[in-house]
Amino acid sequence: MNIKKAVFPAAGFGTRFLPATKAIPKEMLPLIDKPLIQYSVEEAKKSGLEEIIIITGMGKTAIEDHFDISFELESLLKEKGKKEVLKMIQEASNLIHFSYTRQKKPLGLGHAILCAKNLVGREPFAVFLSDDVIDSRVPVMKQMVSVFNKYPATILAVQRVPKKEVHKYGIIKAEKVKDRLYRVFDMVEKPHPSDAPSNLAIIGRYILSPEIFDALEKTRHGAGGEIQLTDGLRKIVKEQDVYALEFEGTRYDAGDKLGFLMANVSYALKRDDLKDDFKRFLKGLIY
Ligand code: G1P
Repeated sequence: MNIKKAVFPAAGFGTRFLPATKAIPKEMLPLIDKPLIQYSVEEAKKSGLEEIIIITGMGKTAIEDHFDISFELESLLKEKGKKEVLKMIQEASNLIHFSYTRQKKPLGLGHAILCAKNLVGREPFAVFLSDDVIDSRVPVMKQMVSVFNKYPATILAVQRVPKKEVHKYGIIKAEKVKDRLYRVFDMVEKPHPSDAPSNLAIIGRYILSPEIFDALEKTRHGAGGEIQLTDGLRKIVKEQDVYALEFEGTRYDAGDKLGFLMANVSYALKRDDLKDDFKRFLKGLIY
């Protein structure tokens, strides 16, 4: 079975980025000149997915506007002969098919995913957390879809993190199957370093089986008083195969100030139109 649908939880308040995110969704913060969420939407498209389901909330209409046609803007750009910019604007709205649904209460990531139940139906689907920006030769979701084609099961993206940082992530307990692939037996959301079963942290890319919806419906409030996806996955792991892929690529936590800065610097240094001047500027800062 092919993975066609991708769920993008985007209803959070972006509290780590206040006050910038008071009136602007954190998903719309720019990484150079594109909003964060567009990078993962492009990753979904490059990975062969066909439909994006965005879980929005109060104050998130800018996301819908961004991926919509802007008739006034497009005709203005046409009139002024700004073909390049026009092309970029149209690319965003022509990317892929979008659906939107709202998470009415901020009850956590697991609850946000549950809001997509009717739009997804009974088929395996992908989840993208667009805070996790991943720079890789092969899009991370494409790496995961390749694994899914051989092991049609739940697949989690993981990376090794320093022990002192395990409290920020879902951490898996797993056994190696082969290079970069693990069979998952259990996991824990944001453990204290002394309780962490490993240092393999779940990063914001998932392929989930539709049974996750049944599991999440039975999941009680966990860490931080929220319905955690990790707790739903703990139920799945008891009934079905779950694998974790240590993906190839560099991940930035763009929902965090330092991670966001690092992503901007690193992406700018790869851009032909910016890298020379920007490098010169950075060298001038180091003394
Ligand atoms: C979420 C998940 C966590 C995962 C992380 C990856 O946490 O709950 O398991 O490790 O994303 O970015 P959050 O960052 O939303 O607190």
